[in-house]
Amino acid sequence: MPDILIAPSILAADFANFGAECRAVQNAGADWIHVDVMDGHFVPNLSFGPATAKAIRPHVTGTMDVHLMIAPVDPYIDAFADAGADILTAHVEAGPHIHRTLQAIRAAGMRPGVALNPGTPASAVAHVLDLVDLVCVMTVNPGFGGQSFLDMTPKIAELKRMIGDRPVHIEIDGGVDPTTAPKVVQAGADVLVAGSAVFRGGSVDDPAPYAANIKAI
Ligand code: DX5
Ligand code: ZN
Repeated sequence: MPDILIAPSILAADFANFGAECRAVQNAGADWIHVDVMDGHFVPNLSFGPATAKAIRPHVTGTMDVHLMIAPVDPYIDAFADAGADILTAHVEAGPHIHRTLQAIRAAGMRPGVALNPGTPASAVAHVLDLVDLVCVMTVNPGFGGQSFLDMTPKIAELKRMIGDRPVHIEIDGGVDPTTAPKVVQAGADVLVAGSAVFRGGSVDDPAPYAANIKAI
């Protein structure tokens, strides 16, 4: 069983206190910080962009994991490199030239990830598994935190087989909580993104619940 990494999504944090929220969840045991970027076009919501990611960066001691829910991706790659993203994940559905996008992310000095919406089959990423460090399996239709988990267990297991011995993380994003986490880990996931399940019940003034929430996942 690999070590399971927890990546809190700051989409569920206090937007007026991102720095303090990042420090608080890292003190509480978070491994990565997951930064959800939405454009109001690829997904029906807006969040924030590279300037916000850059402002957060000094407060992230480990890996800053940036999930782009935007189309197109390529014009923004350099901005996220400049913001200090460690991992930059693009959706396979976001454009017609996924190889070009993933190669450009690597060339800009970041680790490329590829994400799949719930309706997209595992086979959609079969030909890019040698180009990525991470495959992100969405277990909600992206755009909002706090949605119900969609069971993608067979897809996770299929990706695990397809990845074989490549050093590629399987990250699960959406509706991860203490009930759903064991299923996805069993299927082969090793990075768990969680927004509501990490930040619920706490705040920057009372971050004590964060450690218990992370432990419970
Ligand atoms: C969904 C985002 C997720 C989401 C996770 O569009 O990519 O990262 O915020 O939030 P929860 O854990 O609340 O489903
Ligand atoms: Zn995400």
